[in-house]
Amino acid sequence: MVRESRVMADLTQFLARVSGATFRERCQSICKELRCADQRYDWVGMYWLEGDSLALGPWSGRHATEHTRIPVGEGVCGAAVREKSTIIVDDVQSDPRYLACFLETQSEIVVPIFAAGRIIGEFDIDGVVIGAFGEQDKVFLEALAANIGKEWPGR
Ligand code: SME
Repeated sequence: MVRESRVMADLTQFLARVSGATFRERCQSICKELRCADQRYDWVGMYWLEGDSLALGPWSGRHATEHTRIPVGEGVCGAAVREKSTIIVDDVQSDPRYLACFLETQSEIVVPIFAAGRIIGEFDIDGVVIGAFGEQDKVFLEALAANIGKEWPGR
């Protein structure tokens, strides 16, 4: 059980380190800060939902991904939109939904971002060890996603 007051305190501290004058710049800073704050977050990206596909937005990582557009019917990223919930994959090799990106990726967490009750995008974070992500990551990233959803300027 992760205490809500602790999560909100962590979130406040985290947001104090985020910079940028525009929503876009702040999202880019969030990706970088997440990766800097926690070594388990090896690749951090945000995808925006555009119709039936997810378009790559800001990201921070060692390599660029070839998956710059993912149909909602594909990947763990697409599954999180269909299920409207966070998905944690402990071992990507054993998940048939997984769309391979980087050789070193072993685990993944995908967290939808909602604005006014609708999914507008998601976080996609890769880890280099099996089982890198758990309940604490889910709770923190969902709180962060809620904050981003409130700031979303719309299309
Ligand atoms: N692994 C994701 C694809 C995106 S890359 O990891 C950046 C998926 O299965 O949807």
